[in-house]
Amino acid sequence: MPDQQGRRVPGLDRPLQPLTVGTSALGADPGDEALAEMMVSGRLRQLDTSNNYAGGRSETLIGAALKQAPDGVTVFSKADSDPGTGVFDGDRVMRSWEETTSRLGVETLPIYHLHDPMTITVSEAMARGGAVPALVALREQGLVGAIGIAVGGGTMVEDYIRTDAFDAVLTHNRYTLVDRRAEEILRLAAERDMTVFNAAPFGGGILGGSPRHATRYGYRRVSPEFAAHVERLRALCERWGITLAAAALHFSLAEPRVHSTVVGVTSAERLAQLESLADTVIPDGFWADLAALGSPPPSPID
Ligand SMILES: NC(=O)c1ccc[n+]([C@@H]2O[C@H](COP(=O)([O-])OP(=O)(O)OC[C@H]3O[C@@H](n4cnc5c(N)ncnc54)[C@H](OP(=O)(O)O)[C@@H]3O)[C@@H](O)[C@H]2O)c1
Repeated sequence: MPDQQGRRVPGLDRPLQPLTVGTSALGADPGDEALAEMMVSGRLRQLDTSNNYAGGRSETLIGAALKQAPDGVTVFSKADSDPGTGVFDGDRVMRSWEETTSRLGVETLPIYHLHDPMTITVSEAMARGGAVPALVALREQGLVGAIGIAVGGGTMVEDYIRTDAFDAVLTHNRYTLVDRRAEEILRLAAERDMTVFNAAPFGGGILGGSPRHATRYGYRRVSPEFAAHVERLRALCERWGITLAAAALHFSLAEPRVHSTVVGVTSAERLAQLESLADTVIPDGFWADLAALGSPPPSPID
């Protein structure tokens, strides 16, 4: 893993790690208790979850595992809209917070994000009684160290960043080997000295190289031109003796404006692979050859 000085985040008594384990799929399988235990006791003990991941099971399993975990585990979570009605006001943020902290068995969190606020406008979120003032109140009470915005698509992230209410941002699928549309997000965040999480460096799987994910990027079907570009990338990686997954991970890890890269982990095998991918050394010349491949065709996400 690149030897970066970990960023200091208010509410976190240790430096932020450059790699965060994504747990959106944790709890989808009945045997995931064991995976949660490995996540909190392994080498990469910094986890990203959310109130709605696997209908709450992701947080529940992490909470159960934390009871037996050694010290030094960091968990970030997110407030979600009401799953039945889509309501996402200040009251809902407080209920989401109570659910999350009770499942995780914690009283405070270092970073707490507003997650996918698609059912409300930015103005509604910012208004009195809205979701953002509730997050700000949690920060003022010292219950969360920092508040973040975690969403992808359109210009919503930029609009939230420009409110200057947030300390952190999580972007996903938009700063990878084949997509750079988060450039503006990174620029705005750097201007404000925000903590930046870059999630989904494998674009949800295709850049991990597994044939199972070969037809989708950012959870949408890819065009034949896009698939052909990924194929050229894979061939380039092969010529340099590295895997596509290693290149995809290190593309994000090497970006100084990204403070932590969030990778989705679905099994013990993937967790072990992630640790060894993080240790892969990418030959310097690879990045010049990557640039020489030219711009990728548009990815299927907005
Ligand atoms: N709005 C938000 O806040 C938001 C949105 C998106 C993501 N996130 C966070 O970011 C995390 C990552 O997102 P993501 O899981 O969608 O995308 P990702 O990290 O780009 O892709 C993860 C997928 O890549 C495959 N993979 C992982 N390691 C691999 C390896 N070593 N070799 C080959 N394939 C590998 C796995 O597929 P299989 O194991 O199935 O083969 C895994 O499910 C999420 O878990 C979540 O924590 C947050």
